[in-house]
Amino acid sequence: MERDPRPLLIAPSILAADYGRLADEIATVRPAVDWLHVDIMDGHFVPNLSIGPPVVASLRRHTDLLLDCHLMVTDPARWLEPLKEAGADGVSFHVELGNPTEVLGRIRAMGFMTGLVVDGPTPIGAAEPYLDLIDLLLVMTIKAGFGGQALMPETLTKVERANRIRGQRALDFRLEVDGGINADTAATAARAGADVLVSGTGIFGQRDPLAAARDLRRSALA
Ligand code: DX5
Ligand code: ZN
Repeated sequence: MERDPRPLLIAPSILAADYGRLADEIATVRPAVDWLHVDIMDGHFVPNLSIGPPVVASLRRHTDLLLDCHLMVTDPARWLEPLKEAGADGVSFHVELGNPTEVLGRIRAMGFMTGLVVDGPTPIGAAEPYLDLIDLLLVMTIKAGFGGQALMPETLTKVERANRIRGQRALDFRLEVDGGINADTAATAARAGADVLVSGTGIFGQRDPLAAARDLRRSALA
C-alpha cells in the first residue's frame, strides 16, 4: 500500500475531553495537533447527546484550530446556518441518511469544508458516487455514537479502497478515520491511506494528552 503524500493531520476529538475545562484541554494539546474534531450528536441518529452550535461558538472564541464538525444527526441541513454563525470550518454528515448530493451542495455553497461520513458497518460503496463532491471522507473505524470503543479491523479495507479510488480518479479529498485510534492503531490506519487521524480517548483520555498527541503522530509515521 502506498502512503499518500499528504501531510498527516491529527484531530483530537473533544468528546473525550473534560467539558468543564474545554479551553484548557485544547490549549494543552494545541502544539501537537492540526484540527479539532467536534462530535455533534442529536440523540436520534445515535443514542447519545453531545454538544451543539453554542458550544462550537465558545470553542471558536478560544482556538484558532480548524473546527471539524462530525454531525451524527438525522437532519444535518437544519444545523448548517447555526454552525456557520458559530464559526465552524468543516461539516461532515452520514451517508446512511440517504442521497447526500443536495446537502453536500448546500454545505459547499456555504463555504464549509465539505465532508461525508461512512459508518463502521456501512459498505464504502455507499459513498463512492459522491467522492468528487467532497473535501473530506470520514471512514468510521467503529460504529458511531460513543467514544472509547475498539477499532473494527475490517473497516481498514474500506480506507484502503477509498484511498485507491482517490488515486485512480485523481481526487484530492482528505481521508479521515475516527474511532479507536491510538498509538497502537495509528500506523495501520495511516498505512491503509488515512491522512487525518481523529482520536478522543487516545489523546484526552491519557494522563499526558500533549505527549499522547505527539506519540500518535510518531507512531503513525513510523
Ligand atoms: C464517536 C465519535 C468519535 C469519538 C472517538 O462516534 O465520532 O469522534 O470521539 O472516540 P475514541 O477516539 O475514543 O474512539
Ligand atoms: Zn467523530
